[in-house]
Amino acid sequence: MTAKLSVLFVCLGNICRSPLAEAAFRHEAGRTALDVEIDSAGTGHWHIGEPPDRRARAVALRHGIDIGAYRARQVRQEDFRRFSHIVALDPQNLADLHVLKPKGAAGAISLLLDHVPGREGQAVADPYYGGAEEFEVTWADVTLGAQALARLLAARK
Ligand code: 4NP
Repeated sequence: MTAKLSVLFVCLGNICRSPLAEAAFRHEAGRTALDVEIDSAGTGHWHIGEPPDRRARAVALRHGIDIGAYRARQVRQEDFRRFSHIVALDPQNLADLHVLKPKGAAGAISLLLDHVPGREGQAVADPYYGGAEEFEVTWADVTLGAQALARLLAARK
């Protein structure tokens, strides 16, 4: 049996990096006809119900993608059973996910840039205290990660 592919991207607030990773991966999955369910969430609760940060919406729009309808949510215990792949944006998110993970949950937990040769172990840097330039770096990083992850998952099927 092959479980349905499903990917959850996780950062701290779910208003900057993980919505951008979700958008980049949705685009890549669509482009490569990869059948996968996609969502994002934050380890923190501060922004639950909010749309992505305006700078995140702006960088996505500059790259042709409207993420204005996304809403932030927090990671839930059921996510560890529901998603086949949970992908952290930075090493702290990864450590937090390992703490939150219920015993026996089977989903694979990984760091996004671990899938990009030469970028293993690296964070997608938090752009929250930056400006448009930092958000462009975030977009470039999540795009690289999304492409690598889509290739990996396509090869697995
Ligand atoms: P994100 O960015 O984790 O990429 O969504 C942040 C958003 C909000 C905060 C920190 C990071 N905050 O401290 O509120």
